[in-house]
Amino acid sequence: MTARIIDGKVIAAELRGRVADEVARVKREHNLVPGLAVVLVGNDPASEVYVRSKHTQTQAAGMASFEHKLPADVSQADLLGLVARLNRDPAVHGILVQLPLPKGLNTEAVINAIDPAKDVDGLHPNNAGRLAGGFEALSPCTPLGSIILTKSVHASLEGMNAIVIGRSNLVGRPLVQLLLNENATVTIAHSRSRDLPGLVKRADLVYAAVGKPEMVRGDWLKPGATVIDIGINRIPKDDGKTRLVGDVAYQEALDVAGAITPVPGGVGQMTVACLLVNTLRAACAIAGLPKPAV
Ligand code: GUN
Repeated sequence: MTARIIDGKVIAAELRGRVADEVARVKREHNLVPGLAVVLVGNDPASEVYVRSKHTQTQAAGMASFEHKLPADVSQADLLGLVARLNRDPAVHGILVQLPLPKGLNTEAVINAIDPAKDVDGLHPNNAGRLAGGFEALSPCTPLGSIILTKSVHASLEGMNAIVIGRSNLVGRPLVQLLLNENATVTIAHSRSRDLPGLVKRADLVYAAVGKPEMVRGDWLKPGATVIDIGINRIPKDDGKTRLVGDVAYQEALDVAGAITPVPGGVGQMTVACLLVNTLRAACAIAGLPKPAV
């Protein structure tokens, strides 16, 4: 058996197209241009690549994009000052501070300073708490994208056994909440879990978000399982360059899984597309408009 490959590129492009249609509509009907501000502190090369991609795709969807680059040695007060200005700026509906922040800055204080209505990362405690309470909230983009990819295979996740490997605030924890909202039965596994292969074996849906290259092996999987690989690991090649691999041993998994996301070309594509969705939703909510149709 060879697994069906879940094409994140195609699904993300389709989603971006629907966002662009809705952006055009709110512009036409309400003279509203959703705006996203991205703050990048320092010059981590991977973060610079993500931020450039966010900028390009935001503009391509017809939204306003505001980039703020600050030096790695910016003071906490100056960073908080920028966040306060963006909170007040009526052209800005979404604020994303690229993580991780350089050492010396207090990430928690920065996240807490973002207006929850503009928190398109869904990281502010108001949004994280609302999500955990089962209330409507802006939710983190990578978990949202992971759910959309799963639903491209399974129309309903009700009653399915899901395992989320990893418990980060950005991915694992919010993903668990979204899966609960879909009525899945969720196991949360992490670095201290016992018998991880045994836990994975029972799962119909496997979400790997640990940041360990190819940690989940093919023979851990239940035959026919749907595998969503959220890891993006850069590993060195013989020629001195690097290649990207996920948290799942892809070639092994292909023979066992029913469906699987590749790395690259899977979840990564969805994250920015969902950021555009969140920015559009935030803009409509702030303007008092009904929820957009995406
Ligand atoms: N770094 C890697 N992914 C993300 C993300 O989704 N949001 C933020 N703010 N930083 C990230």
